[in-house]
Amino acid sequence: MMGTERKRVFIKTYGCQMNVYDSQRMRDVLAPLGYEPSDTPDGADLVVLNTCHIREKASEKLYSELGRLRPLKAARAETGAPMTIAVAGCVAQAEGAEIMTRAPVVDLVVGPQTYHRLPELIARTHRARGEALETEFEPDEKFDALNIDRQVEGYTAFVTVQEGCDKFCSFCVVPYTRGAEWSRPVDQITAEVRALAAKGIREVTLLGQNVNAFHGAPPAGREADGPWTLGKLLRHIAMIGGIDRIRYTTSHPRDMDDDLIAAHRDVAEVMPYLHLPVQAGSDRILKAMNRKHSFAEYEDLIGRIRDARPDIAISGDFIVGFPGETDADFEATMEGVRRVHYASAFSFKYSRRPGTPGAALPGQVDDAVATERLHALQALLEDQQRAFNRSQIGRVLPVLFEKAGREPGQLHGRSPYLQSVHCDAPEQLIGQIVEVRVEAATRSSLTGVLAGGKADAA
Ligand code: 5AD
Ligand code: SF4
Repeated sequence: MMGTERKRVFIKTYGCQMNVYDSQRMRDVLAPLGYEPSDTPDGADLVVLNTCHIREKASEKLYSELGRLRPLKAARAETGAPMTIAVAGCVAQAEGAEIMTRAPVVDLVVGPQTYHRLPELIARTHRARGEALETEFEPDEKFDALNIDRQVEGYTAFVTVQEGCDKFCSFCVVPYTRGAEWSRPVDQITAEVRALAAKGIREVTLLGQNVNAFHGAPPAGREADGPWTLGKLLRHIAMIGGIDRIRYTTSHPRDMDDDLIAAHRDVAEVMPYLHLPVQAGSDRILKAMNRKHSFAEYEDLIGRIRDARPDIAISGDFIVGFPGETDADFEATMEGVRRVHYASAFSFKYSRRPGTPGAALPGQVDDAVATERLHALQALLEDQQRAFNRSQIGRVLPVLFEKAGREPGQLHGRSPYLQSVHCDAPEQLIGQIVEVRVEAATRSSLTGVLAGGKADAA
């Protein structure tokens, strides 16, 4: 067999954790072709921009990045070495044809379901640019073609278990860019997690745009069960040796079933942290957003989850300035946040996305008003995060040390509640779950000292 020529690939990832996972998988797919990862586009043979379409700014970023790449590509062409530029991800899915016309610097466009065809697409581009647009939806084929034997770094990993969304919240492009809900078969997921565990991974985060709607084909021999829910999948993965921590994201309140809630009580590996977006506090706005639940129903759900796991850290997403949002509607969001007490949260100004039902709604909110609301909400959420972090002072928490910290002699890790933890500790503890006594807290992290105990079973 001929040796493969060494080439360099630079992948830039925008947006959500699923894109981070997809970028890693693209790297895996390209490795056998001789592509080695590069952390700069300078001198790269292949540049992949893995894009996000969720808010307006996200697609603007793509075009400014392409502008920066143009001179690099031209300079490289002068040396006789081509630079292939690929646009992947959700902007590629939504605006693939437009990108090909608007940005001649782009050689190929590949949608989220077709990364496994990247090698073939690159070969095709070298023949003719026009052939290099691939955005069909075939999730089955994508996951069958991706080798479950992944390259890993560190002790935590993302595993995509579900893609797409059938909820059609009126502000959101996901149902259009990522398509209908689709779940990976349980056996395929377990094989991937087992392979990760064999490589030293101790914590997995199961990913899906609407992960708690998971309904994957049951494992061999359990066909009579019918599709498995996320609760069942969590219990199953928890039994894989070496996997000590499991997280999942992102969930919709309507898909939080009793069995999943019970898994937070029964399964030690399921971490006490839940990202459960509500988006707004006013029922009128929730209805216009097509969320299909009221704020009271959300609060009731949070109550049931806290009954199952009292210390659970709740996180969320919020949108301010949705069309028609009045001062009173916004105050309902603030009031709702005051009652729930979030451990962390993301909040955004509404971004009008063409093609979504929200884009056509009357009563678009003035930008200055939306900005003011965003600042007020963020100040409240930051106070809650600080309070949550401070409430850990004096507690001993099991921390999974992941890497060296910023200060010499320090390690960085995560608490069960997904907080960043800094602690003076020897390097040998990287990859271990160790007890840390929390001594100080800021809004974004905890600092502690080794408590002397090893939380590890290993
Ligand atoms: N404008 C602002 N925020 C949005 N999100 C999704 N679509 C939009 C939009 N059009 C936010 C939601 C979602 C998170 C991933 O991004 O809060 O939960
Ligand atoms: Fe978008 Fe709503 Fe689906 Fe989340 S649940 S991906 S916000 S449509």
